[in-house]
Amino acid sequence: MYFILLLVMTFLARFSKASDQYLNNLQPGCFPVPSLFENFSTAPEYWPHETPLLQTLAKSANISHLVKRVSGSWNGWQNVHNIFAFGDSYTSTNFTLYGPQPNPSNPLGNPKYPGATSAAGPNYIDFLTTTYNQSYIQTYNLGYGGATIDDAVVQSGFGDTIQSFQDQVYNEFLPVYANNSQVPWNASNSLFIVFFGINDVTNSYAEGNDTINYDLIEAYQWLVNILYDAGARNFLFLNVPPVDRSPGTLETSSSSQAAEAAYIATFNFRLGALVYNLGTRNPDTTLFLFDTNWLFTRVLDDPQQFVETAGYLNTTSYCPAYAHGTTTLTYFDPTCGVPINAYFWLNTLHPTYPMHNFLGSQITQFITSEDII
Ligand SMILES: *[C@@H]1O[C@H](CO)[C@@H](O)[C@H](O)[C@H]1NC(C)=O
Ligand SMILES: *[C@@H]1O[C@H](CO)[C@@H](O)[C@H](O)[C@H]1NC(C)=O
Ligand SMILES: *[C@@H]1O[C@H](CO)[C@@H](O)[C@H](O)[C@H]1NC(C)=O
Ligand SMILES: *[C@@H]1O[C@H](CO)[C@@H](O)[C@H](O)[C@H]1NC(C)=O
Ligand SMILES: *[C@@H]1O[C@H](CO)[C@@H](O)[C@H](O)[C@H]1NC(C)=O
Ligand SMILES: *[C@@H]1O[C@H](CO)[C@@H](O)[C@H](O)[C@H]1NC(C)=O
Ligand SMILES: *[C@@H]1O[C@H](CO)[C@@H](O)[C@H](O)[C@H]1NC(C)=O
Ligand SMILES: *[C@@H]1O[C@H](CO)[C@@H](O)[C@H](O)[C@H]1NC(C)=O
Repeated sequence: MYFILLLVMTFLARFSKASDQYLNNLQPGCFPVPSLFENFSTAPEYWPHETPLLQTLAKSANISHLVKRVSGSWNGWQNVHNIFAFGDSYTSTNFTLYGPQPNPSNPLGNPKYPGATSAAGPNYIDFLTTTYNQSYIQTYNLGYGGATIDDAVVQSGFGDTIQSFQDQVYNEFLPVYANNSQVPWNASNSLFIVFFGINDVTNSYAEGNDTINYDLIEAYQWLVNILYDAGARNFLFLNVPPVDRSPGTLETSSSSQAAEAAYIATFNFRLGALVYNLGTRNPDTTLFLFDTNWLFTRVLDDPQQFVETAGYLNTTSYCPAYAHGTTTLTYFDPTCGVPINAYFWLNTLHPTYPMHNFLGSQITQFITSEDII
């Protein structure tokens, strides 16, 4: 059976970008950059911070709110029975298409729960599927470590085997799951989670080339529209967290850190425009844009203010003895001073599992809160 699957995948492997119909639709004013921020408080329309906890904090900081958009396709989190996740190492659990598929003994299919994550424990996809779920959810996690959106715009840098967002859509989702009678997903019982941009900005910000930043969002928009055409209607987007504050960037100069932060802000603004466009064009979509950047910033500034992250004692460095993962959730190596779960950063770029737990909990509150506008 897997052999046939492989043949089908090979046959369908590359669809060409035959048409231009979706491009050049980014919100007016989105390019070039400087004018972007002129009306920052009102655009984009769909802005991210809407959990009761985050709402309170956002109000006190005078940050404009997000309007999330819910359509008839959304029957609530409790009626989501399938998650299709697209992303990089923050999302990946090292699922393979060729192993067991999601099933009651492992709702993520393979490998053994929580999978090989970059969090030294479960990641936010694991938490959403098995901790914050309100039903039995089968999760098809196509996330792949090192992935960028489209290698033609920004290369992964980790070689050809890395499955980019483009590969995850064209080589995996479309041929294997889009029309698969074994996977009874439909528009209203499925949530499509997309978390991209971390490797893209990390690999390109130093060039300071805004055209690349724009092209990234165009490629992203293209792929989201392909998912829409395949029947996806409920989307959760996560924007790029402040990886300018990761140990990898903290080792560089302060001007480099500032450049990365600005590049991320622009990318995230344009992601808002992408979501805005998607909603404007397609009234039948349900759109959640979660402000991962804002959440991570709050935690890095003061982890003690949240129950889930109160155990963090070190938010600026990582310990080499933990960097490749640990055998237990509270593993302690004396050379590190404190246990793994007291470090925000596992290594140069990835947060440990308490941050993923908090992310999962806040995403769930965001998509389940009553005050949907
Ligand atoms: C910002 O808002 C002002 C006042 O509504 C308007 O005149 C201007 O065109 C807007 N700028 C952009 C880039 O949308
Ligand atoms: C928030 O915005 C209001 C109205 O623009 C302003 O009066 C107030 O000073 C702002 N508060 C903070 C904390 O910036
Ligand atoms: C991920 O899974 C592949 C097999 O599909 C395996 O070869 C690889 O070692 C795994 N990676 C990690 C980090 O466990
Ligand atoms: C959440 O998922 C787990 C793992 O699939 C399952 O055992 C549990 O029953 C689910 N919770 C609810 C409320 O359905
Ligand atoms: C799925 O099936 C529909 C209806 O037969 C078809 O129009 C569509 O092209 C198929 N999609 C894929 C990705 O195979
Ligand atoms: C989608 O699937 C759910 C079961 O998961 C079913 O209740 C619902 O009627 C289906 N919706 C459509 C439009 O087929
Ligand atoms: C910026 O990137 C674009 C798109 O890759 C490229 O065409 C252009 O030459 C680059 N500009 C500079 C100054 O390198
Ligand atoms: C954070 O961890 C690093 C690496 O172990 C260590 O050098 C540094 O002193 C720690 N910082 C704090 C504030 O504990």
